[in-house]
Amino acid sequence: MTANDSTSASPRESFYMGETVSVVGVCVDEETWRFLGLFADSTGLIQLRTRVGDYRSGQDQDAVLEYLGNPAPDICLVDFDKDRRAAAIMAERIHSGLPDTAVFAVSSQTHPDAILEAMRSGCGEYLVKPIDREQLVKAVARIGARRKEKQEQGRAQILAFMGSKGGCGTTTLATQLGALLASSFSRSSLLLDLHPDFGDAALYLKLTKSRFHFFELLENTDRLDADFLKSFVMRHSSGLELIPAPEGSVASREALPAGALTHALSFLRLRYEFILVDLPPALNDENLTVIRDCDYLYLVTVAEVSAVRNVVRQLEYFHSKEIPREKIRVVLNRHHKRNVVSDAQIEKVLEQKIFWRVPNQYPQVVKTIHEGDPVAQLSSSEVTRSLEDWAESIGKKPGTEGKKKEGRGILGLWER
Ligand SMILES: Nc1ncnc2c1ncn2[C@@H]1O[C@H](COP(=O)(O)OP(=O)(O)OP(=O)(O)O)[C@@H](O)[C@H]1O
Ligand SMILES: [Mg+2]
Repeated sequence: MTANDSTSASPRESFYMGETVSVVGVCVDEETWRFLGLFADSTGLIQLRTRVGDYRSGQDQDAVLEYLGNPAPDICLVDFDKDRRAAAIMAERIHSGLPDTAVFAVSSQTHPDAILEAMRSGCGEYLVKPIDREQLVKAVARIGARRKEKQEQGRAQILAFMGSKGGCGTTTLATQLGALLASSFSRSSLLLDLHPDFGDAALYLKLTKSRFHFFELLENTDRLDADFLKSFVMRHSSGLELIPAPEGSVASREALPAGALTHALSFLRLRYEFILVDLPPALNDENLTVIRDCDYLYLVTVAEVSAVRNVVRQLEYFHSKEIPREKIRVVLNRHHKRNVVSDAQIEKVLEQKIFWRVPNQYPQVVKTIHEGDPVAQLSSSEVTRSLEDWAESIGKKPGTEGKKKEGRGILGLWER
């Protein structure tokens, strides 16, 4: 089979690989390059970036790597036929200088020594000319999968919080859990307050001197970069960062550009380990966008008939919107053994287990929020112990001890 024959299956086939993998060719011959072009068009698996015409053997490592372009390609295809020695040196340089770039050798030589030489110089694949289409598909798929895995490792978990009705303690739990993830488990954490009006997160963290709010960021996502983000973010002494809600109401509610929220979340995901979102208890489009994107939705409720009935309605609504049930977790706040509605009754009516119970300690929680002072009292409170265990279950890095064992607890979180 010739190279051209092997790509003749033209209507574009669909392979799901996430984004296309970028390829740079080094000294790749004309016919192979043409085959790669047809392969790129027919499969969409690769995107040919450039073909460079020499091995740059006389140049230093930095110059060689620069020569391949910035950002570095996902795959560098080095043709060994023109000069095997120079090709091997180039492959070695790419392999050691660009650990995220895979090096593939291409050659018409099939002798085991030739293959061994290429592999020793850091080539992960050896493609014999004319390139076999299936072999290339598999090799590219491996690189795509590896890249996806890496990207996912660098993605924040999005934890959305929504009350079953106002006043269930959603903001209290989101702010305290965020502060604990940052302080006790050293996790870079961001809290987004998505209330269009009357958001309390800034107040609860005593970060009330904000310049800009989250809806302004959403109106300007085309300008979103690291510097622009800085002007929105406020930092709490626990390490938790916050982008607050508007002080009053949002003036231009209709003006949010389509896709702005999704774009902002994917931008922020690359910069934090945890993003907590304080959602208003409403079934609107913005909430739904966040809920679709989030890893977990914590539905915060209390053991009251009206609140539990709302959870049932919310679960029905999310079911109708095809939100997977596994990512919805019911949190019972202000829990007390003698609650009028029992845990068993709640679980029965929801047909779902209660994920977390946070005890009822009104004086301590209120004092914390309003005075910011009784830290010692709160640090030993049952609420904090419960939230620390919750934070530990999601934020503890394997093989590490959280700082909570040092006896600090939430101590200092509200100190500034
Ligand atoms: N575990 C708890 N024990 C006792 N009181 C609590 C607890 N959690 C929250 N509260 C109290 O409940 C009240 C409401 O809390 P919070 O503002 O966090 O609720 P919310 O669901 O965010 O309300 P909103 O709908 O206004 O946004 C506050 O006074 C807070 O101190
Ligand atoms: Mg609130």
